[in-house]
Amino acid sequence: MTIADLPLEDLDVIGAAHYASGGYPHPEWTRLRAEAPLHRFHPEGYRPFWAVTKHADIIEISRQPERFKSGGRFILFPELPGVDAAALDENPPLRMLVNQDPPEHRDFRGLVSRWFTPRAVARLEERLVDITDGLFDRLAASADEDGWVRADFVRDVAARQPLRMVCEILGIPDADEDFVLRITNQNFGLEDPEFALEGETQAERLAFITEAFAYFDRLIADRRERPGDDLSSVLANAEIDGAPVGQFELYSLLFLVMVAGHDTTRNGISSGLLALLDHPDQLDALRGDPDLIETGADEIVRWTTPVNHFVRTATEDYELRGVTIRAGEHLALFYASANRDEEVFEDPFAFRLDRDPNPHLGFGIGEHFCLGAHLARLDLRVFWRRFVARVAEIDHDGPVELLASSFVGGPKHIPVRMRIVPR
Ligand code: HEM
Repeated sequence: MTIADLPLEDLDVIGAAHYASGGYPHPEWTRLRAEAPLHRFHPEGYRPFWAVTKHADIIEISRQPERFKSGGRFILFPELPGVDAAALDENPPLRMLVNQDPPEHRDFRGLVSRWFTPRAVARLEERLVDITDGLFDRLAASADEDGWVRADFVRDVAARQPLRMVCEILGIPDADEDFVLRITNQNFGLEDPEFALEGETQAERLAFITEAFAYFDRLIADRRERPGDDLSSVLANAEIDGAPVGQFELYSLLFLVMVAGHDTTRNGISSGLLALLDHPDQLDALRGDPDLIETGADEIVRWTTPVNHFVRTATEDYELRGVTIRAGEHLALFYASANRDEEVFEDPFAFRLDRDPNPHLGFGIGEHFCLGAHLARLDLRVFWRRFVARVAEIDHDGPVELLASSFVGGPKHIPVRMRIVPR
């Protein structure tokens, strides 16, 4: 049976295995946008949710954080046996901006926002160029006698540049980078057999959060004693309304910056490579005119949409497109679907680095608009400029494997062979 013949309720828009085998379910979303832009799903193993697939609806919902709260259920995740999901919503293992609401959300966002303004971020450009070139230098050293470097583009390239940058912002030393990478993989790979922790209980599945908190305990104690010029030092000594920030909220915020700050950009870089290899005309155009990346970074985010969805909960009954959403019901905002909305984007299934304007929702919108959007754009711009300067040739060298997750999307492994030229 094709997607066009299936009853709407049988469309799979969240199964992790479906994402691992076929990537984002664009055919399903295209049908939903046309026939049922607000559709209520209740797949086996999940609590029910409304799938919001239109650009305009995601904006309308995101701009009303009091009516549609982020606290509570904030991503779609299969229910765990023996775990009371509603109780978990009330007492989440992390409380970290993405599941906070006004006015608390604003106070916490205020603690970190000045580190991510366009001006603050622009100062990091030189360092980012250095990190990226250092990465290509190290890879070049492993070339075989014919000049080919063989690597896993996700693990050895895409993950490394944003990871180093976010560790530097937080003041996390080089030696702890692999720890940060492992914690991030476990966080975003909760449904992927390669990264998920063994065990069925909630405590076993979430053990990596305890590990991260133990690390932050040492980091914060150290920065209280020896404050430095990094974000951890600022947070270690931060106050809200004259009172020190609670430990749980503080560690949650550190956790968010640590994991959100590089996994997403990693997926932008690695899915970006797949997009460019699939569209050689665009890669050639970028090689001919690296300035194309000024608009191209946003097109890569639109096309790849590394963060697929976040969830909101209605706090009161609300009418949208003639449908009544009841207080307490959950809505999944599918940013990746909005980014192909035919009513907003001309030729939405064309990947064009010069697309302008590009009002994509890859960074969300409204109260929770991505704090790191300027950093992510700069990261991508620097990366692709150095890429076209340093990587003279690149090909697939084995099968691509996708992450099994409907939350963040992207490849897990891209075996490649490439020729790297000196700086
Ligand atoms: C291409 C890369 C990135 C993408 C696609 C992305 C995407 C997103 C999206 C869609 C949201 C909205 C969450 C919601 O609707 O509730 C978000 C929030 C957030 N992002 Fe990013 N992000 C990226 C890079 C970064 C970077 C580099 C950082 C660096 C620290 C970062 C930090 C955050 C934080 C802290 C939030 C929470 C903001 C809030 O709830 O107020 N992100 N991001």
